[in-house]
Amino acid sequence: MIRAHAPGRVNLIGDHTDYLGGLVLPMAVDLGTTVEGEAGGDRVVLRSANEDEPAVIPLDVDPTTVAPAWARYVAGVVAEVRPATGFTGTVMTSLPIGGGLSSSAALEVAVALALGFEGSALELAEACQRAEQAASGVPSGIMDQLASAAGVENHALLVDCRSLDFRPVAVPDDLEIVVVDSGETRTLIGSAYAERRAQAEMAEMVIGPLRDANTLDLQRLDDPLLAARARHVISENARVWAFAEALEGGWPDEAGALMAASHASLRDDYEVSTPVLDTLVERLSARPGVYGARLTGAGFGGCVVALTTPGALSEGWKVRPAAGARVTSA
Ligand code: GLA
Repeated sequence: MIRAHAPGRVNLIGDHTDYLGGLVLPMAVDLGTTVEGEAGGDRVVLRSANEDEPAVIPLDVDPTTVAPAWARYVAGVVAEVRPATGFTGTVMTSLPIGGGLSSSAALEVAVALALGFEGSALELAEACQRAEQAASGVPSGIMDQLASAAGVENHALLVDCRSLDFRPVAVPDDLEIVVVDSGETRTLIGSAYAERRAQAEMAEMVIGPLRDANTLDLQRLDDPLLAARARHVISENARVWAFAEALEGGWPDEAGALMAASHASLRDDYEVSTPVLDTLVERLSARPGVYGARLTGAGFGGCVVALTTPGALSEGWKVRPAAGARVTSA
C-alpha cells in the first residue's frame, strides 16, 4: 500500500508576482489531500469521495482530452511522471474543492508522489506546475505547487520566483491565520488571469523585468492600464520583503498594514478583486484583534486571509503552517 499526502496552501502576501519572477510568501496548511493505493496494471484509476466519476487514465495519455474535469489534473501528472506501471487507489481531501486553498495543487503533488515521483521538492513542484497548466490551460505560476511540496511546519516560505530559492520564515505561535471563503465562485478566472499576465508582460517589454523595476520606471509607460498593472507588481514585491521582516521582527501591526496595502493594490491596480471580496476584507479588518486581511491567490472570488490575535474571529478556517508533501507509507 502506498500513501502520499500533500497539503493545500494559503498565500500570506505576494499575489500575481510568481509568474513574473517576483516574491511570494505562502505557507502549506494543515488541510490537504491523501492518495492511497497500489501500483500495478496499465492505467491510473483513482476514485474520490467528492466526485461522481473516477479518473481512469491510460499511461500514454494526452491530458487535454480527458474527462471528467478533475481527472485532467491526474492525467497532467501521469504525463509528467510517466510511471512504468499503473496505479489503483482513492483520493481523500480535507480541502474545500476550488475554494482558494489550492486543492488542485495538493491533488497533483499527492498523485505525483503516489506514482513514485523522484526528485527534489522544487522538481516536484515544477512537474506539477506543468501538469496544472496542461490540465487547466491557465498560465499559472509555481507558488501553489512549491508551497505544497516544500512547506515547513510552523513556517511560511519566502520564495524568490526568479532564482527559485526559498527559505522558511517562522510564523509566531501567538498569531492566528484565518482563511474565510467569500462564497463567490471564480468564474472567468482562467481568461482574466491570462489577460493580467499578458498585460504585465507587455509592461515588461517597455521597462524590462518588473522584478528589477522601480516606481520611477513607471513614467516610461504611456498606457495607464499597463502602468497600473506594473505598479502592483513592483509594490507587491517590496511588500513581501517587508512582511517577512515584520514577521521575523515580531511586528504584527506592520504585517497587517502591509496586507491591507496588498489588497488595495490587487483591487485598484491589478483589478482582480470583486465587491464581495472587498466587503469581506473591510468587515474582517474592522474586527478587534484583526491586524490585517486581504484576498489570497488569484482573486475574482475565492478566499480572504486574515492575520489575527488568537480567537479574534469565529468564522473561517484557522490554519497552521504545515510540513510539505510526503509519502507516509510505501
Ligand atoms: C494562482 C496561481 C499562482 C499565483 C496566484 C496569484 O493561485 O496558481 O501561481 O499566480 O494565482 O498569486
